[in-house]
Amino acid sequence: MTTGPLIRPRRLRTSAAMRRLVAETAIRPEKLVLPMFVREGATGPQEIPSMPGVVHHSLDSLKAAVAEAATLGLGGVMLFGIPEKKDAIGSGATDEQGILNVATRVAVAEAGDALVVQTDLCLDEFTDHGHCGVLDAEGRVDNDASLLRYREMAIAQAVSGSQLLGLSGMMDGQVTAVREELDSHGLIDTAILGYGAKYASAFYGPFRDAVQSSLEGDRATYQQHPANRREGLREVMLDIEQGADIVMVKPAMSYLDVLADVADVSDIPVWAYQVSGEYSMIEAAAAQGWIDRERAIEESVLSIFRAGADAVLTYWAAEIAGGKR
Ligand code: PBG
Repeated sequence: MTTGPLIRPRRLRTSAAMRRLVAETAIRPEKLVLPMFVREGATGPQEIPSMPGVVHHSLDSLKAAVAEAATLGLGGVMLFGIPEKKDAIGSGATDEQGILNVATRVAVAEAGDALVVQTDLCLDEFTDHGHCGVLDAEGRVDNDASLLRYREMAIAQAVSGSQLLGLSGMMDGQVTAVREELDSHGLIDTAILGYGAKYASAFYGPFRDAVQSSLEGDRATYQQHPANRREGLREVMLDIEQGADIVMVKPAMSYLDVLADVADVSDIPVWAYQVSGEYSMIEAAAAQGWIDRERAIEESVLSIFRAGADAVLTYWAAEIAGGKR
């Protein structure tokens, strides 16, 4: 004769060993990608005020950090460059001696086969107006003229050794343009990470400080409106049709529904980017003693994998994999 419930889900929570064994999701170092900033003219690692614990690297400190990422068994690194000089067309992005292309060669030489070296393919770090593309005579972001710049940027990055180009600019047709250009140069093995669903997000705030962005206004004419779920799926499907090798949802935590939708239907890997604001929010609250830092980090990253991400870009990648803080 029973006096209580027959079904007791709590049974599987009775010990730490049992909880670990029945966990549906795990965070593995090889599924984490570390975003890194390299600043032209930097003399050593310099902390970014809006992202405590994250630095601007010099070429030397980048080299050491890439070696560490490899030792920790991370899946890869995603490089962002901050040039000394910016101009209207983002010349630094396509210059062989531009900081991102130089940094890519340094990272690739250091990483060998241990890591996938990836690069951000977008103009915003290189333009003086801070937009992800070039502007037309009226000051609007010119989609098709921007594609021509992305083509050039793709070749510069691929020739520098980047194995995976992160197309984060949200111009229509960017995957097709870059794939065509790479293939016509024989660069058939350079892969494309399409930032299919990328939202116009307040959570990029600390990143814009980090890349010393001069953006006035916003990116609402090209990045997606946070209100839209179906549109995220549409953007991702377009990237897949155009030949993307991997698709991204970004930011992560506020878009877990979109991520789950995409993970349901995509037949290529689906990644998510836990962006700067997601990072800095947790760091700031933890610094105040308002949340348990380690638990919040683990829970946030676990939730992104649980929603369906195959890999996650996170500024905590090295720490999660056992690196020092
Ligand atoms: C575009 C780009 C951005 C981020 C990654 N790639 C900025 C933007 O779209 O405004 C944001 C990453 C972050 O916030 O951590 N180059």
